[in-house]
Amino acid sequence: MAEVVLTKAQKILIIILNNQKSLKNFLNFLIVNRSINGSWDNSNLPKIFNPKKFTIKKKLNSNELQKLLGNNYSNPKVNLDIDFSVSKGGYRLRPHRDDITRLYNFLIYLTDIPKKNGGSLTIYRKKTKKNIRKSFRRFPKISELEVVKEFTPKQGTVVFFQSTPNSYHGVKRFIEKNCPKRFFIYGSYALNKPVIWKFNDIPYYPHIIKTKKKMLTSFHDANYVTVPVAN
Ligand SMILES: [Fe+2]
Repeated sequence: MAEVVLTKAQKILIIILNNQKSLKNFLNFLIVNRSINGSWDNSNLPKIFNPKKFTIKKKLNSNELQKLLGNNYSNPKVNLDIDFSVSKGGYRLRPHRDDITRLYNFLIYLTDIPKKNGGSLTIYRKKTKKNIRKSFRRFPKISELEVVKEFTPKQGTVVFFQSTPNSYHGVKRFIEKNCPKRFFIYGSYALNKPVIWKFNDIPYYPHIIKTKKKMLTSFHDANYVTVPVAN
């Protein structure tokens, strides 16, 4: 693997991520219930940070996943998952929302990718005249979405975003031609249980879509709805 030279900003970020006090402050920020009108909040605040990685990665069908998660989503713990990756030419991600356990996502780009080579992170939201919709599928049709912002990978850029029911995002096809490899760090803060979101005091409940097919826990289709659906 090619050697990655870190910028000053990245070195500082690594120091921050490894510093107990700043991590504690950051976790406090994550668990504070802000309840600002027009913002998404997590209904069940985590009180414990689990230093061990426990995001479950198993191949299950929807019934087995349901059993594994149970139906009591209160008193969750929060954990940090962090990894390093490189995208090859042709890499793309269709618009989606992440796993129902996610609170925050972040990306740290380690190389500069010219705009013409694609690979940009695109942030979408559901098209709507009203402020909010009643249902948020994990994989909506592209026609249901509108682009909010696009980020071209730039060395040292950190993108940090909440993983709410309306946090749709994708990656435009990356063309690996006359440019460096697309190195990046990706991570998330996730609960050990599904997140019940609320927006202007209206709760949004996760609902796992039934399937007989066994797939990884993180690949399951799920909806967010205002009325809980019995499983
Ligand atoms: Fe994602």
